[in-house]
Amino acid sequence: MATDTAVSKTPQISFEEFCRKTFDPKGEFAKPEALKGIRVLSCTQYILGPSCASYLAELGAEVIKIEAPRRGEAMRHTTPFNEPFLYPLSKYVPERGTGLGFLGANPNEYFCSIDFHRPEGQNLVKKLAAKSDVFVENYRPGTFDRWGIGYRQLSAINPRLVYQWLGGFGGWGPGRVRASYDILGQSQGGNFGMTGKPEFMGGSPAKHTIWLADYWGGMMGAVQVLASLYYRDKISGEGNFIEYSQVHGVTRQLEYALPLYGRHGITRERWGTWDTQLCVHGIIKCGKSSYPNSDNPQESEEGYILISASGDEDFARLCKTVGDGNIASKYAKADARVKAEAQLEIYPFLEKWAADKTKEDVANILDKANILNQPVWNAKEVATNPHWQQRGAVRWLDDPYYGDLLHQGPGYKMSQTPPRLKWAMKPVGADNESILGKLAGLTPEDIKRLEDQECI
Ligand SMILES: CC(C)(COP(=O)(O)OP(=O)(O)OC[C@H]1O[C@@H](n2cnc3c(N)ncnc32)[C@H](O)[C@@H]1OP(=O)(O)O)[C@@H](O)C(=O)NCCC(=O)NCCS
Repeated sequence: MATDTAVSKTPQISFEEFCRKTFDPKGEFAKPEALKGIRVLSCTQYILGPSCASYLAELGAEVIKIEAPRRGEAMRHTTPFNEPFLYPLSKYVPERGTGLGFLGANPNEYFCSIDFHRPEGQNLVKKLAAKSDVFVENYRPGTFDRWGIGYRQLSAINPRLVYQWLGGFGGWGPGRVRASYDILGQSQGGNFGMTGKPEFMGGSPAKHTIWLADYWGGMMGAVQVLASLYYRDKISGEGNFIEYSQVHGVTRQLEYALPLYGRHGITRERWGTWDTQLCVHGIIKCGKSSYPNSDNPQESEEGYILISASGDEDFARLCKTVGDGNIASKYAKADARVKAEAQLEIYPFLEKWAADKTKEDVANILDKANILNQPVWNAKEVATNPHWQQRGAVRWLDDPYYGDLLHQGPGYKMSQTPPRLKWAMKPVGADNESILGKLAGLTPEDIKRLEDQECI
């Protein structure tokens, strides 16, 4: 009976249609925000701390970013293409723009500037922290403590404050006193030791082009903040001091490398664009370029495609498609295929087959044979793809400061409280007047004096 009722209530539209309607990006702004009412001070720089705060801003928190007066934080000065007329830096430095590296890590935030060295600046931070839920910073160990605005001082003013410090190595232990960046985190945390081609293939440890450990560290940091808010509001009534370590955060993602070493003494090593557990499960080169006439040298070179046919049946079908019976029978079983010597035979054989094809040619053939594949796409191929466009994963933003901007949207959707993209970034101190007026009680005259003194 219960089953009958459930069946009779099953909606008539397909699951796809249901998802399309429920998650339509056009409806985002008509729905509530999950973190509305949560205020976050983001005293952050580069990517690790900023991305943590911006993931909260994406969910509706009021995030107030505080930077050094006039020039702002270092990330604004790290990339070219920072034309002042396109990406203004601050009204005090009209000849400079904000570097593009700043984009993506600070959307939806309000921008204030305060000099943390000055007593008047430190007082402002205390006033803001008294009215905030979360404080995020990613400076060297104890820097904010030294300035008198660290966890120990601010929690005395606001015991409900959740203080998230994202650092390189943590606040204690023998390896703590160094500067850290994403590249150092990945290098020391163990990731680069197993990324890149082995030496006999002409390879070396490889870094990612994107600041992967910073963005995932920021995301982990946001999870810890949310857990702390939950615990504060449901259980303790008190804040939390969180210490996220960039190098340990990388080690947390090392999969089975540590158990492998611990039990068997085997060090996991580099295996390039292939896979140590599955074969075929890697990237091969296709001999022909998809864009032979492109002005971009990396586009006019040969294409690449990912092929995944690691199950025995899939591998047999792949060999049939490629037209080889020898390899198919020699490596019919997954255990035989996954060995290094086998892979050294199988991948070159696939590349030989793909030598007169573009990545799209290969994809067409493999699609027809029902073999999982994916041409390796660049940013242009992603940006122009309808799947990304329709779902708002890539979207045009009419940014109040920077005009039309093609920007990534949130990577997930929520039916009741969708995350959203409001603006990409603002110049240094753009919200000084409104935020410092509202939360620290500064008058327009105070603002002018402090701006003239470069305290804000
Ligand atoms: C990123 C990092 C290497 C930068 O190191 P750094 O430039 O030496 O800066 P610190 O963290 O020591 O911060 C102190 C400096 O910040 C500067 N600063 C930045 N914003 C400021 C502000 N609003 N007001 C005053 N000083 C400010 C000052 O120059 C200050 O110098 P001081 O120590 O003489 O007072 C370091 O902060 C770090 O290791 N952070 C943790 C890991 C991390 O997040 N890395 C970046 C992401 S990849």
